[in-house]
Amino acid sequence: MASIAGYSSIGIDLNPVMKIIAKAKQATPNDIEGLDIRDLFLSPRISVQDTISDPLGIWFSRTTINSIRRIETAILANTKKKSTNQAVNSLNTKKCLLYTALFKTLRYYLKPFIPSNPTWIKKPKTDSDKLEIRPKDIKETYLKILDEIYNGLKTKSKKWPYKPSQFIIGSSLDIPSKNSSIDFVLTSPPYCTRIDYGVATLPELALLSTGGISEIQLIRRSLMGTTTVPKKPQCITNAIGEKCLSFLHMVKAHPSKASKSYYYKNFTQYFISLDKSIQEINRVLKYMGKFVCVVQGSFYKDVYCDLPGIVIDMAEKNNLRLVTHSEFENKQNMANVNLKGKTYRKNTSVSEAVLCFRKGG
Ligand SMILES: C[S@@+](CC[C@H](N)C(=O)[O-])C[C@H]1O[C@@H](n2cnc3c(N)ncnc32)[C@H](O)[C@@H]1O
Repeated sequence: MASIAGYSSIGIDLNPVMKIIAKAKQATPNDIEGLDIRDLFLSPRISVQDTISDPLGIWFSRTTINSIRRIETAILANTKKKSTNQAVNSLNTKKCLLYTALFKTLRYYLKPFIPSNPTWIKKPKTDSDKLEIRPKDIKETYLKILDEIYNGLKTKSKKWPYKPSQFIIGSSLDIPSKNSSIDFVLTSPPYCTRIDYGVATLPELALLSTGGISEIQLIRRSLMGTTTVPKKPQCITNAIGEKCLSFLHMVKAHPSKASKSYYYKNFTQYFISLDKSIQEINRVLKYMGKFVCVVQGSFYKDVYCDLPGIVIDMAEKNNLRLVTHSEFENKQNMANVNLKGKTYRKNTSVSEAVLCFRKGG
């Protein structure tokens, strides 16, 4: 949207999957001109890597992994896969588009493993429950999905008036930009709703990762909102802000199981990362630059987590002054997906806030 509006922009996300999706969204009809998608499959038969340690093996049989990897090799057209981030960084827009069709193909077959919470994915209990799909069917599904994507793209006369956004696989805890170099930061960080973005994109990460399951675990642990916790509890100081401290205190004191152990550690880790990210945003912003943050409150059992209030505390101590605060009711929040939550409260309606700050002034 920044490019369409004529601004030079950088998009940062720690998950390599998001770079492919964002880059594919910038595709124009020019990117697919002259490409007959069936040509993709004319490349010579390739030998596919060992499927035993392949993370796609969580859900798919060995022969099915082979079919999926053949399509991927055709997309990559002999570009050797290096580290995951290097491989993703080397993809042009067209290849990103071809990858998104393969993401959708995986999701099409993985539907039986997606529970009512769409950000989670189940694993088959035994090897015999793994998906075995005929190679011909996978290829046809892929080509059908790709055709739909291409047809949608052809009908759009979307042109990017300015240079497309640059996408970086990077962390908000260590933003790869110079001090006081950015005019405007817009972000929607993971909320306190226990959406684990590593799990939410597990099939895509399994496809992309060159380092197997152990690398996927590392990516997952590094993302804010992860449901994993560090072994040692992290230290939190009063500087994190009163609202945050009070929420953490209520979690720790909650009588329910694992509140003072797992959940307290999990929320502490989340807020430490959020606080560090806001400090980084402040560092890269120019004087009088703007910071806009979309956040949503949530519940832990019956304890309300006022995430907008916590962000305001964290921003203001960094000299980021709140200019406007708008609230929107969001009925489709994750609290409503988790039916167990109703044991603790009747009203699960929470609001989504758009907070606008200005640095200094
Ligand atoms: C609520 S989503 C927002 C996604 C996207 N920006 C949008 O608005 O559609 C939160 C995103 O934060 C990313 N993320 C989590 N921890 C991060 C971190 N430390 N640095 C950068 N991105 C992170 C996740 O991968 C996820 O894509």
